[in-house]
Amino acid sequence: MRIDIVAAIPDLMRSPLEHSIMQRAQDKGLLEVHLHDLREYGLGKARQIDDYPYGGGAGMVMKPEPIFDCIERLQSSRPYDDVIYMTPDGDVLRQKLVNQLSLKKNLIILCGHYKGVDQRVRDVLITKEISIGDYVLSGGELAAVVLVDAIGRLLPGVLGDELSALEDSFQDDLLAPPIYTRPSDFRGMKVPEVLLSGHEAKIREWREEKAWEITKNRRPDLLGSSS
Ligand code: 6GU
Repeated sequence: MRIDIVAAIPDLMRSPLEHSIMQRAQDKGLLEVHLHDLREYGLGKARQIDDYPYGGGAGMVMKPEPIFDCIERLQSSRPYDDVIYMTPDGDVLRQKLVNQLSLKKNLIILCGHYKGVDQRVRDVLITKEISIGDYVLSGGELAAVVLVDAIGRLLPGVLGDELSALEDSFQDDLLAPPIYTRPSDFRGMKVPEVLLSGHEAKIREWREEKAWEITKNRRPDLLGSSS
């Protein structure tokens, strides 16, 4: 899978993409992430990428020309399945959408900054608009990293244990059950007996029951919804 990220401040994303699972995915050749600095497509000597909003109001707007130049250049090299715009007014990201995106071959992610991008970018270039939750970040870069991490870890071969992505919270609309490691008795706090029993069926049953109970208490909204 190839992901091209177009941003005003690509440096914000480098460290998270160069560590741990994201790094492993790229080292194994399962994921290619290319960062593109919009400033390189900026206008004039100052390489301008933003401007005042028509009609007035606070904050700057990302100009259309650098974004069109950058994205159209990418699109002339290969076909892209989606051009995603990260914005707080997009569809809120859920596991189901992450799963769908993980099946794509080539994605472009455009990070909003300042007040956002000129509407004509959204009208013409963008095929999906995604938010990572109901709060406002100062730019789309960190949100893009969240999206790429969520997608990357699902690519076949990225996780060591092939099963573990399927056991995540949310993968079956249930939160994860409690987990423990050694020691079995830590300061008098004991690991539930069933987990030490070696009885696989009983362990599975305990985990399902706990997952259900925790979801019912914490996130009843997840029960009986299919997204
Ligand atoms: Cl995608 N961008 C910004 N700027 N803020 C957000 C967001 C995205 N998702 C949640 N808040």
